[in-house]
Amino acid sequence: MSDSEQKNQSWGGRFSEPTDAFVERFTASVGFDHRLYQQDINGSIAHATMLAKVGVLTEPELKAITEGLEAVREDIEAGRFQWSVALEDVHMNIEAALTERIGIAGKKLHTGRSRNDQVATDIRLYLRDQIDLIAAELTRLQTGLLDLAEREADTIMPGFTHLQSAQPVTFGHHLLAWFEMLTRDAGRLQDCRARLNQSPLGAAALAGTTYPIDRAMTAELLGFDKPTENSLDSVSDRDFAIEFCAFASILLTHLSRASEELILWTSAQFGFIDLPDRFCTGSSIMPQKKNPDVPELVRGKTGRVNGHLVSLLTLMKSQPLAYNKDNQEDKEPLFDTVDTVKDCLRAFADMVPAIQARRDNMYQAAKSGFSTATDLADYLVRKGTPFRDAHEVVGKSVAYGIESGKDLSEMSLDELRQFSNVIEQDVFDVLTLEGSVAARDHIGGTAPAQVRAAVSRARRALGG
Ligand code: ARG
Repeated sequence: MSDSEQKNQSWGGRFSEPTDAFVERFTASVGFDHRLYQQDINGSIAHATMLAKVGVLTEPELKAITEGLEAVREDIEAGRFQWSVALEDVHMNIEAALTERIGIAGKKLHTGRSRNDQVATDIRLYLRDQIDLIAAELTRLQTGLLDLAEREADTIMPGFTHLQSAQPVTFGHHLLAWFEMLTRDAGRLQDCRARLNQSPLGAAALAGTTYPIDRAMTAELLGFDKPTENSLDSVSDRDFAIEFCAFASILLTHLSRASEELILWTSAQFGFIDLPDRFCTGSSIMPQKKNPDVPELVRGKTGRVNGHLVSLLTLMKSQPLAYNKDNQEDKEPLFDTVDTVKDCLRAFADMVPAIQARRDNMYQAAKSGFSTATDLADYLVRKGTPFRDAHEVVGKSVAYGIESGKDLSEMSLDELRQFSNVIEQDVFDVLTLEGSVAARDHIGGTAPAQVRAAVSRARRALGG
C-alpha cells in the first residue's frame, strides 16, 4: 500500500486544510476493502451504462469509462495497481485511476451516485458471489457424508446420551445426523442470498437523486432481483451481513460438534476411527502422538466466527438512519467470516471421505456398554411384563453383568432367567446388536435399511 503524494480531492472544495495524517490512516478502509474491486468495477460499469441510456452520459463517454475500468481491472489483477491510503477506499482509488487514464469522462462516473449506495451494492454483490462458492463447498461436504454413510450403513457403534453408551446405532445413521444439520445450514444460506439480492444502487447518499435514473436497469444488469424499496434503508441496511454471519455461526457450531466427535473417536480411549496422517500432526516431544489438528482447529474457529456475529450486531445497534461511518466496520468481520467458513468447509469436505472406521472397535464398544438393555426391556413388555417392572428386571441383569464382566448377550439363558422367568431362548434375537439396530426400522430410525433409504432420498434432494 503506497501512501503516495496523491491527495484526496473528492471533497477538497470545502476544506481549508488537509486531513491529519493519522486521521487519514485511521479512516481509510482500502487496506481491506480493495477485495471488493471486481464488484466495484462491475457496479460502476452498470451505473455508467444506465447513465448513458438515460442521456446523462454520451456514448463516447460510456465507452471511455467502460474501457478505462477494464484497464484498471487488468492493472489490479496483474498486481500493477498502486493502492493509496490517501484515497481512502477501494471506490475512490478506482475512480481516481480511471480519471487519470481517461480524463474528464472519469469525473462524470459518480453522477447520481454516492459511495453510500456504491459500497452497499458492492458488499451485496461480493457476498452473493461468496455465498455461491460456499454453497458448492457445502454440497461437496454433504455428498462426501452421504458416500461415507452408505459405506457404513451396517457398521454398528454405540449411540450415546450424556456421552454414556445408550443404544446401538449404525455409523451411517450417525453421519446422517451431521448431514441433516448441514441441510438446514444450506437452507439458511439460500434464505440469506434471496433476501440480499436487491439493488441499493440509486439510493445515492440517502435520499435518492435528481437525475432520471433507471434503477430497474442497473438492478437487472447486476443480476439483482429488483431495486430496494427505500433509499434511507438501502444505504444503512447491513442485515444481510448479520444474516450471513448468523448462518456461519450455526454452521460452525455444527462443524465444531462433528469436530469434537472426530477428536474423541480418534483417541486411544475410543479408537473408533482413523484419520489419515495428512490431516494430523505429530508432537515435537512425544513420539507416539498423532494429533487431530484439523478438527481441533475447526472447533476453535467457531469462537472467532461467533465473535464476528456479535461484532456486527453491536455495530448496527442504535445507529440512526441513514449511513454512518460506523458501517465501514462491517467489512473485516464479514470478510474473515467468509474466509473462515470457506477454509473450514474445505477442511471437512477433504477429510470426511478419508475417515476410516475401525469397525471392530466400534462393535466391541457397543457390546460392552449394555447397549441392548432397552431391547431386553421391550422384549419383556412384549411377553406381558409391565414396563416399570421390566426396567427393574433389566437393571438387575445389568448389575449382574457388571459384577460378572458379561454383556447381556453373553449370559446364558439360565443366568437371565434368574431375573425373570418369562425370558426364553428367543431373547437372543433381540440381545444381539444386529437385531437391535435392525428392529428400529422406520423413517428416521437407525436400521441399515433405513440408512440406505435416507441416503437415496438425500441424494435426490441434493440433485445428485
Ligand atoms: N469506505 C466507506 C465504507 O466502507 C465507503 C462509504 C463512505 N461514505 C461516506 N459518506 N464516508 O463504508
